[in-house]
Amino acid sequence: MKGAFITFEGGEGAGKSTQAKRLTQRLRARGCDVVLTREPGGSAWAERLRTALLTEAGRALDPTEQAMLFAAARADHVDTLIAPALKAGQTVICDRFADSTEAYQGSAGVPTQMLSLLRLVAVGPVMPTLTLILDIAPEDGIARARGREALDPFEKDDLETQAARRAVFLDIAAREPDRCVVFDASLPADRLAEAIWPVVEARLGLAKEG
Ligand code: TYD
Repeated sequence: MKGAFITFEGGEGAGKSTQAKRLTQRLRARGCDVVLTREPGGSAWAERLRTALLTEAGRALDPTEQAMLFAAARADHVDTLIAPALKAGQTVICDRFADSTEAYQGSAGVPTQMLSLLRLVAVGPVMPTLTLILDIAPEDGIARARGREALDPFEKDDLETQAARRAVFLDIAAREPDRCVVFDASLPADRLAEAIWPVVEARLGLAKEG
């Protein structure tokens, strides 16, 4: 694996997609060859599974079945897009990745051992170099997501569920401090982008902008 692999994680309304796009633009402006992708999705099969998962019918599956489908989508995404891009020396930025399965399906009751096994099968050694966790209080995140567009079924979950997912993301960050950095996502988008940039610059070993 040669290129850097950066993932964005966090709850609903944390602004991941906006920050992933901004970081992509800024890195490209610095001459980096960046592939921006997302989960669930990012490859032809994974996008099909995304369509199935992000519906009321997908939501009706039990959390273990959901975890397996998210992992199947991820396996295809890693095989067909992420691993080849990293091998070719590109920087990959992914809006959500395996930590989302731990936060969403894990907090819904899927045992840790099963999640570890699914991660092993779907991700193998293609672990993120850097994971940016955008942390926001569930009530603030939901308020933002509501103002944006129609909520997907996972966004409609109650505040308690959102709080449990937030706790898992923070737990992952505490467990893997070398990989994960937590940001206060209640900041305005510009300030959040300014907080994220030096961390990425340092991790990727880019020379400071003059
Ligand atoms: P998306 O429209 O990409 O929302 P967001 O802007 O919040 O990322 O929808 C993805 C939804 O799927 C989101 O609610 C989180 C959920 N999800 C899981 O439950 N498990 C997973 O492994 C992944 C990748 C996403």
